[in-house]
Amino acid sequence: MPKILIIGACGQIGTELTKQLRAEYGTDNVIASDVRKTDPEFVASGPFEVVNALDFNQIEHTIEKYGVDEVYLMAALLSATAEKNPAFAWDLNMNSLFHVLNLAKAGKIKKIFWPSSIAVFGPTTPKQNTPQYTVMEPSTVYGISKQSGERWCEYYHNIYGVDVRSIRYPGLISWSTPPGGGTTDYAVDIYHKALENGEYTCFLSEETRLPMMYMDDAIRATIEIMKAPAENIKIRSSYNLAAMDFTPKEITEAIQQELPEFTISYEPDFRQKIADSWPQSIDDTCARTDWGWKHEFDLATMTTDMLVHLRELKHND
Ligand code: SER
Repeated sequence: MPKILIIGACGQIGTELTKQLRAEYGTDNVIASDVRKTDPEFVASGPFEVVNALDFNQIEHTIEKYGVDEVYLMAALLSATAEKNPAFAWDLNMNSLFHVLNLAKAGKIKKIFWPSSIAVFGPTTPKQNTPQYTVMEPSTVYGISKQSGERWCEYYHNIYGVDVRSIRYPGLISWSTPPGGGTTDYAVDIYHKALENGEYTCFLSEETRLPMMYMDDAIRATIEIMKAPAENIKIRSSYNLAAMDFTPKEITEAIQQELPEFTISYEPDFRQKIADSWPQSIDDTCARTDWGWKHEFDLATMTTDMLVHLRELKHND
């Protein structure tokens, strides 16, 4: 059994990933860490350490304390927040990655998962069925940091033999932990507001198409790429990954199947420009061929599942 450390475990992906990895590898083999103890119940649910992703010594100490083999580095500033604080976004997104890459280079850990994003693409990238290899001129700080991170991952693999694996996540939709600071977050908030108020004001325009994925699929992809034999991971920058794509109008129609009274209005803000610079759909043939990726959820099945879980949550409140 590998010993696993998750950095940024209290975030939208980290919380779900911690739960699933503990289910598969045993609670004591999965150490959650974050800069803050946000949710007391989560913190008490297994081994937890306060770790600042920018503090090399803290990461190294935690790795040595638990004899960690694998690190999942989930701490990052997302696209919208990064635009408000570019210097900190660059510092956090890049230096946390260097810390973990250097620990692997020094032989202190064996394997790394590092998330990239559709934000590595930019306005000059072909928007439909965006290929794995194409023009990449990201125009957001977040995208620039992810694109640079991808280059460094590949470099550390090629030059130092570091086993680093990565996925370009599309927008991720989940019911249990709120997202923070992303351009795709409307697709989470819309479900909450549909149940709470029956109406939602969207910060993107109605025809803004973006690639998206349900969290269950994203977590499965993350664990599958980490479990795959090293020789199957032929791309050491980051893999395109896809499940569905939709517009605010289409997700509204899906919700209206279950909540016919639900209404939406549109007030695009600064995030519209970010969304407009990203692909509308992704070609993930390489992930499907190399390590057998297959998504399960589409817009309709995700909508049903989201509403079931959110109704339960609200009922128990
Ligand atoms: N969901 C992210 C964001 O919107 C993209 O990786 O920032």
